[in-house]
Amino acid sequence: MTDLSTTVNGIKFKNPFLLASGPPGTNAKVIQRTFDLGWGGMVCKTISLDNSKVINTIPRYGKLPADEGGKRFIGFQNIELISDRPFDVWLDDLAACKASHPDHVLIASIMEEYNKDAWVEITERVAATGVDGFELNLSCPHGMPERTMGAAMGQNPEMVRDVVGWVRGATSLPVWAKMTPNITDIRVPSRAAVDAGAHGVSAINTILGVVGINLDTLRPMPTVEGYSEPGGYSGRAVRPIALRQVMEVARACPEATVSGMGGVETGDDAAMFLLVGASTVQVCTAAMLQGYEMIDDLLSGLSKFMEKHDFKSVSEIVGKSLPFFTTHADLVDRQRKARREHAEQSSRDENWKGDIAGETDALVTD
Ligand SMILES: Cc1cc2nc3c(=O)[nH]c(=O)nc-3n(C[C@H](O)[C@H](O)[C@H](O)COP(=O)(O)O)c2cc1C
Repeated sequence: MTDLSTTVNGIKFKNPFLLASGPPGTNAKVIQRTFDLGWGGMVCKTISLDNSKVINTIPRYGKLPADEGGKRFIGFQNIELISDRPFDVWLDDLAACKASHPDHVLIASIMEEYNKDAWVEITERVAATGVDGFELNLSCPHGMPERTMGAAMGQNPEMVRDVVGWVRGATSLPVWAKMTPNITDIRVPSRAAVDAGAHGVSAINTILGVVGINLDTLRPMPTVEGYSEPGGYSGRAVRPIALRQVMEVARACPEATVSGMGGVETGDDAAMFLLVGASTVQVCTAAMLQGYEMIDDLLSGLSKFMEKHDFKSVSEIVGKSLPFFTTHADLVDRQRKARREHAEQSSRDENWKGDIAGETDALVTD
């Protein structure tokens, strides 16, 4: 068996696969089950001190079918908020998960308003449950921007710097800042987070989108009482965008680790995220659609990839493809040079053929 264990920011993972913050980590029971199934870690559904303002709608999901038949889906959209479960219940759940599965990695996803006391309080109280680290949700794309939560905060590098600084001051545990792709340059807030002391950056959260319009009712989807709002788009369709953003963050923040996600469905997908600089890989939508048992295929897929290339450890893969990203001008230069070398080689070959022909003629004449 290939050894898939890896240590990131001092945390030992049995394998690099984590379930991402979202429905998979919604309470202790589900989290414990996913640990039993073999996931290397879990980022719990985002929690906050005051759940009373978190009010979800039904429906809140929409799917983008791959074709007319609609059996396979390439994209998924949600207008789900952070957890609506009470904070005290969450503290008990997190402590229970660590008590029953001490060797499994539990990362707490937390989110608050732009208020130092609130961030310090949530960090200290959650750290006391025994979790292994924090992921700061600075990236939820919809809901509560009026409270400057989520992406509204993550799009503002000054706020990112402050929040990461407050959390770092309140805990010695590893801190990952989860970034929004809904920004011109993801490197700017990522750098701000790392400069403020974040050990890692998680990317990407969902991409703002409109999954579709119902062509019978002419109403946008998912439709709530006839209306909708732009939501967070995820799943296979976002993978190229996620790979690009993870690559950008990895290059801009070489001293930090990256936890990559966005459309991971197979071990090969995960390998791509590792190759562009992620040290761990998170999965949300695919696990929701395929079931948490998909971990078996992720593990065997990544093992096969490692055997094929003779990688002995996950950390050996991390960032292996990064040196091969360059600029367009450099690509043009490289191609020009390659063509020139090819032309020179061809002309050398022609001359050589001519020489050989000449020598052969001479031999025949002799
Ligand atoms: C239904 C749903 C709920 C989500 N809730 C959260 C959340 O509470 N906190 C968070 O940081 N990300 C949340 N996410 C985003 C995912 O963690 C992940 O960043 C994103 O979906 C991209 O990964 P994927 O394509 O594997 O789903 C949610 C995603 C979905 C689909």
